[in-house]
Amino acid sequence: MIHHAWLRPGMWAGRRVRIVGDGLEVVREEAARAGFVPGDPADLVLAIEDVGTGPEGFRLGRRNGGIAVSAGAPAGLLYGFFEVLRRGERPIGADEEHRPARERRMLDHWDNVDVHPVMGQVERGYSGGSLFWSPGRDIGRVRDYARLLAATGINAITVNNVNVHAAETRLLTERLDEVAAIADVVRPFGIRVHLSVNFAAPMVAGGLSSADPLDDVVREWWKEATARVLGLIPDFGGYLVKADSEGQPGPFEYRRTHADGANMLAEALEPYGAVVHWRAFVYDHRQDWRDRSTDRARAAYDHFAPLDGQFRDNVILQVKHGPMDFQVREPLSPILLGMPRTRLATELQITQEYTGQQRHVCYLAPMWTGVLTGTDLVAVSNAGDDPFWTGHPLAQANLYAFGRLAWNPALTAEQVLDEWIGLTFPRAREILHDLMDDSWRTYERYTAPLGVGWMVRPGHHYGPDVDGYEYTPWGTYHFADRDGIGVDRTRATGTGFTGQYPEPWASLYESRDSCPDELLLFFHHVPYTHVLQSGVTVIQHIYDTRFAGAARVAAMRLRWRDADGLVEAGVHERVAERLDEQLRSAEEWRDQVNTYFLRKSGIPDRHGRRIF
Ligand code: GCU
Repeated sequence: MIHHAWLRPGMWAGRRVRIVGDGLEVVREEAARAGFVPGDPADLVLAIEDVGTGPEGFRLGRRNGGIAVSAGAPAGLLYGFFEVLRRGERPIGADEEHRPARERRMLDHWDNVDVHPVMGQVERGYSGGSLFWSPGRDIGRVRDYARLLAATGINAITVNNVNVHAAETRLLTERLDEVAAIADVVRPFGIRVHLSVNFAAPMVAGGLSSADPLDDVVREWWKEATARVLGLIPDFGGYLVKADSEGQPGPFEYRRTHADGANMLAEALEPYGAVVHWRAFVYDHRQDWRDRSTDRARAAYDHFAPLDGQFRDNVILQVKHGPMDFQVREPLSPILLGMPRTRLATELQITQEYTGQQRHVCYLAPMWTGVLTGTDLVAVSNAGDDPFWTGHPLAQANLYAFGRLAWNPALTAEQVLDEWIGLTFPRAREILHDLMDDSWRTYERYTAPLGVGWMVRPGHHYGPDVDGYEYTPWGTYHFADRDGIGVDRTRATGTGFTGQYPEPWASLYESRDSCPDELLLFFHHVPYTHVLQSGVTVIQHIYDTRFAGAARVAAMRLRWRDADGLVEAGVHERVAERLDEQLRSAEEWRDQVNTYFLRKSGIPDRHGRRIF
C-alpha cells in the first residue's frame, strides 16, 4: 500500500478528457488514474501540437470552456497534465507557457546493491531499504516512484551510491541488465538513468593492471564498456564519479589531474550525448587535528579552480552547495562563483543526514532558495522502500520542493510548501504551515550555533556530541576553549579561505563586523563576549536560541494534536511518534550544548535558566 503522497488517485473523478496524439500511453494511464473518463466535449484536452515550447515545455489555457494543454512531445504533455492536477480548482486563465528553467533536474540515490555493514543499504538513508536494489523489490513501486518524480519535474536519476563498492562496480558490466530494467520502467515518465562508476573499474571489473586515465588501454576499456551500456540503454544519461575522496580511487594515484580523469570518461560518453558528473568533494580526510594550517573548507576550490577551462563540454562539475558538507548553515561554496569556464551543478542533500535524519521536521527549501545560482541542480534523494516513501511523512515535502525548484527556481519556499500541502494534506493546511514554514531555522536554533557546524555523534551523525569530531582526522573543528569559539578563516589571521570569494563576499566575510551573524563562527574565532549584530553576546545567543529552539519543538508537538482527524490515522500516528523523538532530541541538544559552553566559559545565563 502506498501512503499519502502528492498525486492521489481519483482527484478528478468523473471529468471528461480528450487525448490527441501518438505515444501517449502513460498520459492516458495517468488521466485514468486521476479519475478522468474519455469523452467529448471534454473538460480537459491534452494534445500533441507543435507549440514551440521544446521537448519538455507545454502551453496551458482554456478552449471551448475546457482546459487545454498542448505540447510538442509526450514528456511535455505529461508535465502539462501534472500541472493541471497541481492547480486543482485554481483557475487557469489566459494562455500560459511553461518550460523548465534547467534541462537536467537530477536526483542521486546513495543506494547500495548489497547491504553495507556500517551504512546499511541506503547510505545516509532514513527511509528503509533501496527502492531499486532491495531483495524482492517491487518493480511496481519503482514505477510509482517514477510517477512521483515526474510530477515534480525530475528527469534524471542516478541509481547507485557515489561510494561504489565491488558489487556496484559490476552494474557497469555483468549486472548491466539490472540497470536497464530500471531504465525501462522510468523511461515512459521522461526520466533518464545515470550510473555511479568506480574510477578503478578497469581494474576491479576489467582485470586491467591500471586505471591511469592517460593509458590507451584504459581509455579503450571505458569506450567499450560505455558502448555496451548505450547498446542496452539508448537514452543512458551518463556517469557520476566520486574520485580521490574519502577512500575512493581517482587520478591522483597516477599523478594525473581531475580534468584528465573526467575527460577520459567524457570522451567515451560524448558520441551518445551523455555526460559525466564529476564531484568536487575532494579533501584530506586524514588530516592531523593538531595542524591548524589545513582547512577542509578550502580544499575543493584549491583542487578545482586551477582546472577551470580544462574540462570537456560534457563534463559537469558537481559541487556541494557549501564548502564543507551539508551542514544546517554554510556559506555558498566559492567554486560556484569561481569557475566561469566550467559547467557546474550545485549538489543539495534532501536526505537529512545533518538536519534531523527524517526524525525531525525540517523543511529545507528555505535553505535551498538561498543557494541557487543558476547552475544545474542535483540532490541526494531521501526516498526508500518505507511505506511513506521518506520515513517521516512530512519529509516528502523536501523531495517535492527540490523537483519544483529545479523546474522553476523563481518559486518561493512557502509557495512550494503550500502546493505540496494542498496536494497531500489539504485539510491540515494551517497546522502544517505552523509546523513546517520555519522548521529549518528551528532545527538550527537547537543544534550547532552560528554556522560552526558538526557537534554530532561521529559515524551516524545523529544527536549532539560537541567534541565528537574535535580531535579526529575529518577537518571539522569548532576550536572552543575557555575564551571563545569558531574557525578563523580570514586572510588577515586565519586560513585565508575568505580569499576564495570574489568581492563583495570576500570583504563581507573577512570582517567580523559585516559577517552575517548566522555564519560568524564559520569565518571567525571570537570571544564568548563578542556582541553580535543582533545586540546579544555570542554566549547569550547560544543559550537563548537553544532554549527557544527546544521550546518551539514542544509547541509543534502539541500543535500536531489538532491534526487528529484531518489526516489519515496512520500518518497522524507516524508524525506524532517522530515529534516525540524530535522533542527528546532537541532537549538533549539544548542541554548538552548549553552545559558545554557554561562549563567552558564560566559565564552564566543572564536569565538564570537551568543549565546542568
Ligand atoms: C558525507 C556523508 C557520506 C558520503 C559523502 C559524500 O560525508 O557522510 O556518507 O559518502 O558525504 O557526499 O560523498
